[in-house]
Amino acid sequence: MIDADATERQWALPDEAATGALAVQLAAMLDDGLVLYLHGPLGAGKTSFARALLTAMGVGERVKSPTYSLVEGYETQDRSAWHLDLYRIADPGELEWLGLDSLADPSALVLVEWPERGAGALPAADMELQLSYAGDGRHALLRALSSRGYRLLQRMALMRGPHASP
Ligand SMILES: Nc1ncnc2c1ncn2[C@@H]1O[C@H](COP(=O)(O)OP(=O)(O)OP(=O)(O)O)[C@@H](O)[C@H]1O
Ligand SMILES: [Mg+2]
Repeated sequence: MIDADATERQWALPDEAATGALAVQLAAMLDDGLVLYLHGPLGAGKTSFARALLTAMGVGERVKSPTYSLVEGYETQDRSAWHLDLYRIADPGELEWLGLDSLADPSALVLVEWPERGAGALPAADMELQLSYAGDGRHALLRALSSRGYRLLQRMALMRGPHASP
């Protein structure tokens, strides 16, 4: 029985392909801008997820990890997208010189790894994805934090993903 009212959904991700499949499922349901925070320890799969999502959204170039650049910008089929990795940020004030005003565009897709390091300097999240280690694979928890994120999560809940667990 699918609980369409839940504000969070969980998935078992046994391998990297499953991480990609979850990202593709999210991309298929995305019809608006979205600010998605990506949480999880080093190597949990945040970049893998972001790369699969951006590729599924029609980014025609190779998606790089923004480990050193901090931010990479892309154009998808229908919106601008930004991928940030704030691991190397010591203080959110360091983000000022990056000129992150464009992140405030409500139609943009904004993906942020290590968002806690940019607290106060980032747009509020519509959703957060928590990735954790589970044996050789990963566990994913997707939580809605705004009405826009909630609608998107509902659409995903109504779609039968191969790895969905109630
Ligand atoms: N569901 C999964 N099961 C097992 N391995 C996975 C899964 N998803 C991704 N991986 C692998 O885990 C590694 C994740 O690396 P990735 O760079 O995506 O992590 P990250 O969370 O972005 O790390 P960092 O915090 O260093 O940026 C990759 O080698 C990828 O192949
Ligand atoms: Mg990463």
